[in-house]
Amino acid sequence: MRVLVVGGAGYIGSHVVRALLDQKHEVAVYDNLSLGCRENLFPEARFVLGDILDAAALSAAMACGVDAVMHLAAFKAAGESMIHPEKYAVNNITGTINLLNAACEIGVRRLVFSSSAAVYGEPRYVPVDEAHPCNPVNFYGFTKLEIERLLEWYERLRGLRFASLRYFNAAGYDVLGRVRGLERHPANLLPVIMETAAGRRDCLEIFGDDYATEDGTGVRDYIHVNDLAGAHLLALEYVAQDRSLIVNLGSETGISVRAMLETARRLTGRTIPACVVARRPGDPPTLVASSKNARQVLGWRPKHSDAETLIASAWAAYQRR
Ligand code: UD1
Repeated sequence: MRVLVVGGAGYIGSHVVRALLDQKHEVAVYDNLSLGCRENLFPEARFVLGDILDAAALSAAMACGVDAVMHLAAFKAAGESMIHPEKYAVNNITGTINLLNAACEIGVRRLVFSSSAAVYGEPRYVPVDEAHPCNPVNFYGFTKLEIERLLEWYERLRGLRFASLRYFNAAGYDVLGRVRGLERHPANLLPVIMETAAGRRDCLEIFGDDYATEDGTGVRDYIHVNDLAGAHLLALEYVAQDRSLIVNLGSETGISVRAMLETARRLTGRTIPACVVARRPGDPPTLVASSKNARQVLGWRPKHSDAETLIASAWAAYQRR
């Protein structure tokens, strides 16, 4: 298929582009390079420098011949979204409206969208399945939920078929080492551990060790980006059969901050200094997915999402730098 990957130079987008190219799809990347980077571009994929706020440029990119769009362009820092909601409203929501309008105007009716477990907010039960109530606790999560509602309306009114993929904690780097750009100014646990191991930070701050979890630190469901990329390919096949879906993508396994840190110390051979600080507001103790639907409906099976592979693939990417 001819696939336009919007946000294809970013962390997850570049892994998705790699997977599409591996399966011989014809890929064009549309990215403004604000968070994505040139190093993440592959020569086999055509590159269009453009912004999702530029409706005319989006229409032009789609007019070149596109069978499906993958939409991964968004701001994703939950904390920042509470301080600068306007930035998130315009980029994430207005940008997506532009994209949907351009797609429908040109007749592209297949879309795979990057959603997030942030749509659920504070979990009322774990594992969290898709029937769990959606009450986002940060504005970022609200933008993702709002977009899912838009997708449902565009499906009813314009015949759009979409797959909305609710990622849990994306982590790791391409296991074959083909994605070279590292995220700039990361705030997520694994890249912060990697930067500390590499000596770029003095210490890992553990945000609280008095949670009601086995070792007191936060438990999350980390999902390897190669596994996420694989789910995008399956979702593309699914929408191509004229169907829509919303699914969780998680490993269904919880890993604590301390367990991640200890595994990283072992695999990197580095001390990785750490200190316990106050809890981060809005962090639930445990967030783990039920991915039963992705398994049953898409036939998806995560292969790389164990702590060892997550850390080893990330450490290899940091060592290449
Ligand atoms: C966060 C966002 C989520 C977003 C996801 C991907 C919130 C509440 N959630 O998930 O909406 O989709 O990132 O961008 O912001 N931790 C530390 N020290 C650190 C960093 C993290 O102890 O320096 C702990 C956290 O308290 C948490 C775990 O590590 O228990 C994972 O944190 P993080 O990687 O930031 O992801 P989430 O907060 O789960």
